[in-house]
Formats: sequence, structure tokens, C-alpha cells
Amino acid sequence: MGRGAFIVFEGLDRAGKSTQVSMLTDALRERGVAVQKQSFPDRSTAIGKLIDDYLTKKVEFSPEAAHLLFSANRWECKDRLIKSLEEGTTLVVDRYAASGAAYAAANSGQTLEWCSQPDRGLPAPDLVIFLRVGEEEQQKRANWGEERFERVETQRKIGKNFDRLADSRTWFGVDAQRDKAAIHAEILERVLKAIHECADQSPLENQE
Ligand code: TMP
Ligand code: MG
Repeated sequence: MGRGAFIVFEGLDRAGKSTQVSMLTDALRERGVAVQKQSFPDRSTAIGKLIDDYLTKKVEFSPEAAHLLFSANRWECKDRLIKSLEEGTTLVVDRYAASGAAYAAANSGQTLEWCSQPDRGLPAPDLVIFLRVGEEEQQKRANWGEERFERVETQRKIGKNFDRLADSRTWFGVDAQRDKAAIHAEILERVLKAIHECADQSPLENQE
């Protein structure tokens, strides 16, 4: 049996990633695909707890220090992620290195290049599903504005950074302002194709 596919969801806050991650995971499971869900930040680890305190504004870190914690939170999961993929399990991941770089560059003023560096060498996603949502829609959604970074100006900068990071080979943009079921159907079709391709051949690549 071939390896699992590494599927990542990216997008601004309140784009609907968590909903789509759950819908996708359930649909794959129903089809008999071995699948695991993962979110970054993974707030359950010791590093993740620091990140949670930072996001909910209980502690302060310099933007660069915060970024290195987000990256460390991915590095601490690296072996487990690779093992699952090699065992044939498909991973559906809510945010990954692109969020790291896009948010850190907006928050710190460092270049995207600088902000991409800490994640180099981590496994790279086979497919990045990018959920596009406009700022008016974003602000209408539940709990908008609660956490750090949920401000219009900041989100605008982050959105531009995502556009610069998107690569045509692995990124799949989706209009996330439609009906949930329609968004899900489009994503599922693309992901099933990626799962086939990964099982057939392509070795896991590293984050550049
Ligand atoms: P969440 O909304 O997906 O739970 O993510 C929490 C916030 O953390 C969100 O505003 C995006 C931000 N973030 C970073 O700044 N850097 C990262 O590396 C990740 C994974 C998330
Ligand atoms: Mg959020």
C-alpha cells in the first residue's frame, strides 16, 4: 500500500477551515480512507499552551519569538506526521507552514523569506486548499475579533502574504463564501485525486 496524502487547509481567520476539515475527514472515513485530523497550532502540547496564552493575550512575546514557537510546535509533531503518512494514513491539517510565514511577516515586518526559514526541512504538503473569504463576510462570522491577529488591517497584510506564497502546483483556491456543502463537494473531489496520486507514486517532499 502507498503512503497517505498530506492535505493542508489555509486561509484567513474565520474562513471556515475547521468546518471544512471536519466535513472532509468524515467524508473520507465514510469512504474507507484511513485519515487523521491535525490542527496547528496544536494547543495541547507544552509549546501549544504557551501559544494559546499568546493568542488569547494572556502573555506577550516579541513577534519573532512567537513565530519560532509556532514553528517549534510543528517540529515537535514532525516524526508523528511522517510516521502516519508512511503507514498509509492521509492527514488533513488545519493550518501549517504557510500560516506561519504569512502571519509572522505581517506581525513582525520581517520578510516572507526570513519567516519561511524556520519551517524549512519539515515535510511539505501534497495539496494546500486555500479558502478565500472577503473581509465583510469574515467579520460577520461567529467570534470574529476575539483573538490576536483578528483585525482588518492585519488580515489584509496576511492575505497579501498568502497570495505571494501560493504556488500553482500544490495550491487549490476555493471560494469559501458559498454554501458549505458546495464548498465541501469541490474540495472532496480534488482531495480524492490527490490521495490517488500519492498512493501511486510521489515521494514526500520537504518544505522549502
Ligand atoms: P486558528 O485560528 O487556526 O486556531 O489559529 C490561531 C491563530 O494563530 C490564527 O490567527 C493564525 C495564527 N497562526 C500563526 O500566527 N502562526 C502559525 O504558524 C499558525 C499555525 C497560526
Ligand atoms: Mg482563528
